[in-house]
Amino acid sequence: MNTHQYIELEHKYSAHNYHPLPVVLSRGEGPYVWDVEGKRYLDFLSGYSAVNQGHCHPRLINTLVEQAGKLTLTSRAFHSDKLGEYAEFITNYFGYDKVLPMNTGVEAVETAIKITRKWGYEVKGIPDGQAKIVVCEHNFHGRTSTVVSFSTDPTARAHFGPYMPGFITIPYNDVSALEAALEDSNVAGFLVEPIQGEAGVVVPDEGYLSKCKSLCEEKRVLFMADEIQTGLGRTGKMLACDHEGLRPDVLILGKALSGGLLPISAVLTDSEVMDCIHPGEHGSTFGGNPLACAVAMEALKVIREEKLAGNAAELGGWFREQLRALDHPMISLVRGKGLLNAIVINDPNPDAAWDLCLRMKNNGLLAKPTHGDKIRFAPPLVITQTQVEDAIGIINGSLES
Ligand SMILES: Cc1ncc(COP(=O)(O)O)c(C=O)c1O
Repeated sequence: MNTHQYIELEHKYSAHNYHPLPVVLSRGEGPYVWDVEGKRYLDFLSGYSAVNQGHCHPRLINTLVEQAGKLTLTSRAFHSDKLGEYAEFITNYFGYDKVLPMNTGVEAVETAIKITRKWGYEVKGIPDGQAKIVVCEHNFHGRTSTVVSFSTDPTARAHFGPYMPGFITIPYNDVSALEAALEDSNVAGFLVEPIQGEAGVVVPDEGYLSKCKSLCEEKRVLFMADEIQTGLGRTGKMLACDHEGLRPDVLILGKALSGGLLPISAVLTDSEVMDCIHPGEHGSTFGGNPLACAVAMEALKVIREEKLAGNAAELGGWFREQLRALDHPMISLVRGKGLLNAIVINDPNPDAAWDLCLRMKNNGLLAKPTHGDKIRFAPPLVITQTQVEDAIGIINGSLES
């Protein structure tokens, strides 16, 4: 089958809940992917930052295959010989008392919301049914009906109501707005992306996160960091919150926790919060399965041992400099941190960002527009300087054409 036939097949039988670039991939290695016709591309999306360790990292594949041959799933009805080891490993790695393992990112967000509300009632003393969580405009935390209830994106929300109450929406990067919202003593948590990825890599002012954290401490509100996209080396530190030296009360991880091999997510917090959850109150058949535990440990070891955060910091800074140096009239803004970057396209044609992505695809680089006029550039963190140079060449050539 050729590209066209694969796309037709998918289009006929699969729900149309995405609008992919017309490319059909069949292989990946490091920062590269290949399509069914054998053409090679630099992957500048990395599965929305799930493939920080690069495609098919040999250490991760070996771990997956080895564990898959032993035991893949017990459910949580029984113990496995991997969950305790993983829980000890990841809690030491990030410095928390406890972990609650889940699968997809949005499940981890849901978990964080449930734990935070439970803590609000049972520890903070909020009257039952009254707990509130403060969230930011233009957030992206996933797609469940609760999570889209507090989205401000009409496409994500429309006709999916009735919506879950109990969320207060404030502008992002606005400390005073948080201060005002926290006047409500029923607020249990503040849920925030340290950088808003889906919104177009919106980086808040320096100091924003740490000021928010201090306000949360003052008002006894849990600071919940959704580091699903920004965490695990992507922004040049292990966590994006590390740039401001702050430790979230509730840390939400996903995506690169598996290096792209399978859905693995986690919520980390201390005992005061996590011990509010008792048997039967929350869980998941696959959450904490032995295959996921083995892969996640290896994925975290690879990030640390291959110094991927350092590489992201170094090459990310250089990449942004090179993009700015192009000084192209179609690029109105370059922004980002580490290897989580975006350009904002300045062009009267509303499809200009999409058209540019098509040109880049033809020239061997894959990236995807977000919110119409922005293009995110987030390659695997194993990328080398030479490969980033190649990418700049492709981006420039595509802009020129
Ligand atoms: C910040 C953030 N939170 C949550 C999610 C949802 O993760 P998942 O698609 O694995 O449910 C995403 C996915 O892009 C994300 O970027």
